[in-house]
Amino acid sequence: MSTLAKLALGLMGRLRPAPAKAGSAPALALPPPNMQGGLPLMDALARRHSSRDFTRAELSLPVLSDLLWAACGQNRPDGGRTSPSALNAQEIDVFVALPAGAYRYDPATHQLHLVAAVDLRRVTGYQDFVDEAPLDLVYVADHARMGLVPAGQRESYASAAAGAMAQNVYLFAAANNLATVIRAWIDRAAIADALGLTHDQQVLLSQTVGYPRAQA
Ligand SMILES: Cc1cc2nc3c(=O)[nH]c(=O)nc-3n(C[C@H](O)[C@H](O)[C@H](O)COP(=O)(O)O)c2cc1C
Repeated sequence: MSTLAKLALGLMGRLRPAPAKAGSAPALALPPPNMQGGLPLMDALARRHSSRDFTRAELSLPVLSDLLWAACGQNRPDGGRTSPSALNAQEIDVFVALPAGAYRYDPATHQLHLVAAVDLRRVTGYQDFVDEAPLDLVYVADHARMGLVPAGQRESYASAAAGAMAQNVYLFAAANNLATVIRAWIDRAAIADALGLTHDQQVLLSQTVGYPRAQA
């Protein structure tokens, strides 16, 4: 769908998901993440950049598993994660928009839980490439988990936590020849509606991930 069509539908409050590809499993157990090796950190940093030109090729489950673990997976027995959060509130949920459904990533079990049997991708941003790239992540803050954070600081702390996850995904992408871009130009109301979010949940950012289209 074009950006103009999305803007028009968004203005009318009618930007809606597409039907999901058949087979929205209620839960998807991801294979264990590969926590070893990969590109040296400084090489990944040297390659990090935003891309907006994706092929439609889907990500395999092992790649999705590694990517989500990199974003915010558990990396310690005490429940600690690959990305920081103020007072360890762990207030950010990562929603995963795949052609076969919209899922929530659970770092504790390393599973995806179906939230809506729809193809949410086109709702995750006004830019047209988000519709066809194989994966759009949506970072959502749950203010109900930030009771210890002063109310006036909650949005900025949560945005910092989401930004850390997004950078982890950038580095994972750089290390694995994937393309990605973090996005704030999104219709937060349309996303919240499609995901059935509560008033405590705030859509912060989206991030598209996929394989880069070969440059001519
Ligand atoms: C908070 C934030 C919001 C952004 N929103 C968008 C967006 O909505 N769409 C987009 O294409 N890029 C977006 N970007 C990506 C920037 O345009 C990009 O990082 C910048 O042009 C620098 O390019 P680089 O990431 O390749 O270094 C955003 C970046 C940040 C940090």
